[in-house]
Amino acid sequence: MTPSTSTQPKGPDMRVNLCGVELVSPVIAASGTFGYGVEFEEIVSLDRIGGFVTKGLSREPMAGNPAPRIIETAAGMMNAIGLQNMGAKAFVAEKLPKLRSIKGAVVIANIFGFTVPDCLEVIRILNDAPGIALYELNASCPNTSHGGMVFGTDPALLGGLIEACKSIAKRPVIVKLSPNVTSIAHMATVAAGAGADAVSLVNTFLSLAIDVETRRPRIANITGGLSGPAIKPIAVRMVNDVANAVRIPIVGLGGITRPEDAVEFLLAGATAVEVGTATYADPRAVENIASGLRRWCADHGIAKVSSLTRGMIR
Ligand SMILES: Cc1cc2nc3c(=O)[nH]c(=O)nc-3n(C[C@H](O)[C@H](O)[C@H](O)COP(=O)(O)O)c2cc1C
Repeated sequence: MTPSTSTQPKGPDMRVNLCGVELVSPVIAASGTFGYGVEFEEIVSLDRIGGFVTKGLSREPMAGNPAPRIIETAAGMMNAIGLQNMGAKAFVAEKLPKLRSIKGAVVIANIFGFTVPDCLEVIRILNDAPGIALYELNASCPNTSHGGMVFGTDPALLGGLIEACKSIAKRPVIVKLSPNVTSIAHMATVAAGAGADAVSLVNTFLSLAIDVETRRPRIANITGGLSGPAIKPIAVRMVNDVANAVRIPIVGLGGITRPEDAVEFLLAGATAVEVGTATYADPRAVENIASGLRRWCADHGIAKVSSLTRGMIR
């Protein structure tokens, strides 16, 4: 027998290929819940998870919204962090050198801006920095040149943003779609048509919680984004809708807390998944879900995790 050259441990083959980048597992840490990765270095084996997405990076540092900006809800949480971040330049100078030294860590840089030139500037800053595998473009941001209309809820704005970003990006671009639309399949079709290499979905759902004693919104920003288990069935439905509409890879997320949740997203059409809110309850959630998914595949006689993608029986 020819000896195997694979570095994978025995058992199911957990590798997936996302836009030409090989991931050792389809389970990735989601943006905004995993800092810049370095903060989790001692808690999670960054080379054992599929990768991680950084906190959204903007052209300049941002302080975010006033508190309270995170609250717990019945089956999840609401946040209005306001995209607080250190800025792309500081990320490259202060975090990336450390990340580069962690062998096998797959870094996905999450990018946003309030205008197209803002986004392009972030990409220019990141383009020449080694150690980034992929970009994830957060389209759930208001475009200030168009009266605050959110990029991801307007097909023309979304298409224009993606075309501009793709024209200069030196890495594949995953476009993160907003779920706050009537047809996410239509937005995914626009994204694919504009050159997106993949789409990720979903971002958080626009929501409101009111304190009935004070009659004030529980979040200072008034509205926030709902995430966690409450949104999972909607997110899985949206992944299925998008899988029926486009042929580019899909990264599925929204409320994943168990390996079986990840399997659901894969069966609905995802190539990989991201885990966000679950990290707040268990900082090792991403790694635990990745190992649990391996066990699930072994127990179910699944030789290659990639065979689960679009595997739902209709
Ligand atoms: C506190 C917090 C901050 C987030 N920040 C970002 C961000 O900066 N960029 C982004 O694209 N998504 C951000 N998200 C959205 C998550 O990446 C994810 O799309 C969403 O929470 C749904 O997944 P989950 O239910 O597993 O958390 C944030 C979510 C939370 C809870």
